[in-house]
Amino acid sequence: MHILHVVGARPNFMKAAPVLRALQGCGVRQTLVHTGQHYDANMSDVFFAQLAMPAPDVNLEVGSGSHAAQTAAILWRFEPVVEERRPDIVLVYGDVNSTLAAALVCAKLSLRIAHVEAGLRSFDRSMPEEINRVLTDQLADLLFTPSQDGDRNLQREGIPAERIHRVGNVMIDSLVRLLPEAQAASNGIPSRYALVTLHRPSNVDDERTLKSILHALLDMQGAVEIVFPVHPRTRQRIEQWRLGTGKLHLLEPLPYLEFLALQRHAAVVLTDSGGIQEETTYLGVPCLTLRNSTERPITVTMGTNVLVGDDPARLKTELARVLEGKAKKGTIPPLWDGHAAERIARILVTP
Ligand code: UD1
Repeated sequence: MHILHVVGARPNFMKAAPVLRALQGCGVRQTLVHTGQHYDANMSDVFFAQLAMPAPDVNLEVGSGSHAAQTAAILWRFEPVVEERRPDIVLVYGDVNSTLAAALVCAKLSLRIAHVEAGLRSFDRSMPEEINRVLTDQLADLLFTPSQDGDRNLQREGIPAERIHRVGNVMIDSLVRLLPEAQAASNGIPSRYALVTLHRPSNVDDERTLKSILHALLDMQGAVEIVFPVHPRTRQRIEQWRLGTGKLHLLEPLPYLEFLALQRHAAVVLTDSGGIQEETTYLGVPCLTLRNSTERPITVTMGTNVLVGDDPARLKTELARVLEGKAKKGTIPPLWDGHAAERIARILVTP
């Protein structure tokens, strides 16, 4: 059996690593294709190293561009790779442009597709990731979901139940394995801090919105120090519009282990990321999500996540609640146990 994995952007790497590992020793041949959607060393290479992933067999080197240009470049460059290698099944991960583009190529070539992290829905089609999720799930033959809401969403969209396998959360597999190696926060990090990440186009690509979020962060500094590893997209915008960042502790994007350590020791995390909502829920760290919707509702119903939307006043109120020690308590969702990838491997290799 020949399994081909496709990864492209930072949040794919911690999902693919445990599946690659679980399939080692199962007697299957594995090929790893990197689309090159993320290409900076600190957005890609360092994750391969820390997650002990094999070097990609192929790098499509598509780089950045508009959604259409990036997606088209992957379609164009990935097709000959799969035509030549003819895998038995192609695994795609998460909801980035590389996920949908690879799935589309395979569907047209009648190659079997498995989608890892299927079924998540924010029900907000203005998010590019929501389009990627819905369409990838329609094309996939096997759908591996992290939680029950995923199963329900897929069934509602007409996906036959026998294609859906609830396996749990592969990203938590990486966290469980590597948490013991995640060292305490590095030099220059205050002892008590709020950790911030921001990169959603809806938050950072509009000058007024980004300005108002930065103002809110600057306002909060009286109450707590702010540590902010800045995504390249966000850094470009801050520089382009010359926005003030006062005494915020701005950092470069961090490697996996360093970021995990910062999350673990944070008083609170403020984010618009998807995966971080899940990691904080696992770690039991309060999370305030700067979005109006989430495709990961279980982090709100069971976990430590609170959606604060785009209202700075709400953010302040929720932050004050956390800093007073009144954060809501969460529990870890079922099957977020470090063994999701093993369940995926078992399903893939069972005839
Ligand atoms: C992408 C994913 C998003 C994911 C995020 C994690 C899509 C639609 N979006 O968003 O779901 O949460 O990755 O980071 O797939 N850039 C660099 N170096 C890099 C990569 C990007 O400088 O290695 C800059 C480029 O200027 C690029 C911009 O960041 O234009 C945005 O990159 P892109 O891949 O388009 O989307 P992300 O915002 O990273």
